[in-house]
Amino acid sequence: GTSARDEKADSPVVVVANRLPVDQVTEPDGSTRWQRSPGGLVTALEPFVAGRGGAWVGWSGSAGEAPEPFESGGVSLVPVPLSEEEVDQYYEGMSNASLWPLYHDVVEKPEYHRTWWDAYVQVNKRFVERAAEVAAEGAIVWVHDYQLQLVPAMLRQRRPDLTIGFFLHIPFPPYELFTQLPWRSAIVEGLLGADLVGFQLPAAAANFVQLARRLHDLPARGSTIEYDGRTVTARAFPISIDVKAFEELASRPDVVKRAEEIRAELGNPQKIILGVDRLDYTKGIAVRLNALQELLEDGAVEAPDTVMVQVATPSRERVEHYVHMRETIEQQVGHINGVFGTLGGPAVHYINQSVPREELAALYRAADVMLVTPYRDGMNLVAKEYVAARSDLGGTLVLSEFAGAAAELKQAFLVNPHDIAGVKNQLVRALRIEPADAAKRMRAMRRHLARNDLDHWASSFFDALQAKA
Ligand code: ADP
Ligand code: G6P
Repeated sequence: GTSARDEKADSPVVVVANRLPVDQVTEPDGSTRWQRSPGGLVTALEPFVAGRGGAWVGWSGSAGEAPEPFESGGVSLVPVPLSEEEVDQYYEGMSNASLWPLYHDVVEKPEYHRTWWDAYVQVNKRFVERAAEVAAEGAIVWVHDYQLQLVPAMLRQRRPDLTIGFFLHIPFPPYELFTQLPWRSAIVEGLLGADLVGFQLPAAAANFVQLARRLHDLPARGSTIEYDGRTVTARAFPISIDVKAFEELASRPDVVKRAEEIRAELGNPQKIILGVDRLDYTKGIAVRLNALQELLEDGAVEAPDTVMVQVATPSRERVEHYVHMRETIEQQVGHINGVFGTLGGPAVHYINQSVPREELAALYRAADVMLVTPYRDGMNLVAKEYVAARSDLGGTLVLSEFAGAAAELKQAFLVNPHDIAGVKNQLVRALRIEPADAAKRMRAMRRHLARNDLDHWASSFFDALQAKA
């Protein structure tokens, strides 16, 4: 290699994401162990990278010195260190208190701080350095998500030999919202460093092309933008899950048996309603609780004949909006159970924990109605996992119109999460659906997913990127 590279510069494919696929957690006794990282990005990318070798550059999930690079499942993991202050300013601040709410339609008010921005620039640079060290000459580098939007341009400057792709896992806002951002030009220029910029939906790609045109006065047509003597392509690539693997998991005899056990543990209710999310204010968890509470008050449903299970993984627990929403939800669960529960028979079973994949699959198999009600969501893989799990053609999906998945899972009962009467209506329809109707809807959604799985997503993106090399 050249002087910019060292002897480790041998990976033909490099993934760059804020998180590694595993998360380092510290036990109360001070020892550390690795566990699977939270969220949809890791769910989607892990099987793809494992199949190809290559390197994954990311943060270990804890502050301080980074562990040495190591191999895991055929992938070379390259940890990037973040100091306490960087976790505070780059991750919790700029990424999750500025960009996350801005990109999700300002569901909560974004805050903008210059110190957060400075940390964001500094950390993006560090990711670039690590990626530049491990990428082989002419390698393909695939950068992910809103935490690393400056990486494409910085990396191109350092390593013009690379082919660079970027994929945004979350929504991309319209011009009118995006331009709030004090550093809007820098972000657009950062992304334009890529050869291919991928989004979940065509409307998001169109938003980006429009920004390039209106904000930067660049020649842009359809899905292409002319910039700096190159053609940048911006297109939609709706992400998916490993459908076959999930279906197999959910059909395993032990998992099917566990689904029956779950039903029994819940007291053999007539109907089980399920929610599974990271505990995030974009997910509309309160919408579901409101709908259930009103239906209980109206007498349209009764507990414990009908119960709700809400599994909510703790997430970004030091960010203020998250602290606040957790309090609100826990209070509401307590209220509903206080008023409508019986001894040993709560109306809402609330689990504030991450659960193993097997248990998740069993929960999906046990649930009569899956409630997915985000105010805004890039895709929502939970909805796709539920459909993949139901090879028995049982179960009904209630899905927000504002999740990317709604563009594909058209046979779900679609809801506007801002319209509580509408959510109640659709929930009641889902609870009372004829099994034949439910099966018909599930079959249609499963047919769509079978063709549009993770492999389809990853190879379409990768092929489009390789075509630019
Ligand atoms: P996001 O990426 O915003 O977290 P997605 O629905 O796209 O939302 O992806 C969430 C991923 O995290 C899914 O694969 C889902 O199975 C997993 N997940 C969510 N909640 C839990 C939980 N409580 N326990 C285990 N896995 C969870
Ligand atoms: C979403 C984001 C990912 C993020 C994940 C978990 O899926 O798109 O980039 O990794 O949530 O959030 P966390 O902040 O714990 O990484």
